[in-house]
Amino acid sequence: MTLDDPAALARIDSHDTRGVLTDFPAQCRAAVALAPSTSGPLPRPRAVIVAGMGGSAAGGDLLAACATERLDVPVLVHRGYGLPTLAGAADLVIVLSYSGETVETLSAATTGLERRCRVVAITSGGRLAALARRHRLTSVTLPGGLMPRMALGYLFFPMLAVLRAADLVVVKDAEIDEALSGLDGLTRELAPGSPTAVNEAKRLALALGDRVPVIYGGPATGPVAYRWKTDLEENAKCLAVAGALPEMNHNEIEVWGARIPQALHVVLLRDAHEDVEISRRFTLVRELIARQTGVSEAWTRGTGTLARLLSLIVLGQWTSFYLAALRGLDPWAVPVLDSFKAQLADGSR
Ligand code: F6R
Repeated sequence: MTLDDPAALARIDSHDTRGVLTDFPAQCRAAVALAPSTSGPLPRPRAVIVAGMGGSAAGGDLLAACATERLDVPVLVHRGYGLPTLAGAADLVIVLSYSGETVETLSAATTGLERRCRVVAITSGGRLAALARRHRLTSVTLPGGLMPRMALGYLFFPMLAVLRAADLVVVKDAEIDEALSGLDGLTRELAPGSPTAVNEAKRLALALGDRVPVIYGGPATGPVAYRWKTDLEENAKCLAVAGALPEMNHNEIEVWGARIPQALHVVLLRDAHEDVEISRRFTLVRELIARQTGVSEAWTRGTGTLARLLSLIVLGQWTSFYLAALRGLDPWAVPVLDSFKAQLADGSR
């Protein structure tokens, strides 16, 4: 199929994922305007723990990536039941679940309450919203109707407001403005109306084709590589590999000296602000990989960390959308994931 044919895209995209992705800058602006239910300060925490799974946890990863260079308080992302042993009364626990029905996140909320942590809930409804009402938790109520992984704006920006209330400024206002205006331009460049000749996401999807995507980031873009992997898996239903330099130089690099039986395509997520040592590593890694298979590079845009990371996240969202289209698959639906959750809830096995 040609990615420049609107009718062909409409045929595979009956849920209008392309409309949701096109509205992503507006979603982010709406998310910036959301305020926590209780005004007034929160105590400055010893640690911030963001508990969530899948697309919701991706909001936590973005927060942690932005916080690394700014905060003297650790931001930990917890994916799973309960909470780490360290979580206690001095800590802020943000329970983040778009649907409000994720059992691991509900369990984290309950554990946080038992341990007398300061628990803040961010959700569009479900059992998490009910729990927040019951315990009068500070909360942020999100609009519903999206797929969690497509609601990253809602799952990220409200946490900035929560952390500000706790005297922790992770991203300054000017940096938020920069990120939002960068998203406007980028979305115009990547949306279906922009032809393949000038559309980086369409070109990347064509380069990936039927090959297994291998996505490598660097110190800043490593978490974004993981987000690409999960978007490729959920949207395009294709297995993807993610890794980060310099760590992969100590293990996964060995693979590239051996014969690789599968057809792969590598995407290197480069940061315009990366350190010269990291650039040298990328050059050497690229040379090694290019002896075996195709390699593409995608670069961050913008100045602030948030603008840079979001620019590559958005490129990954669109790339996975177009890859789904090339494979003739609906990027919205996740039937296996849904049926797995239903089987767990059923409890008969
Ligand atoms: C589905 C998706 C999933 C969910 C995950 C947790 O679009 O992205 O990864 O995010 O199953 O569900 P929520 O986010 O509702 O807690």
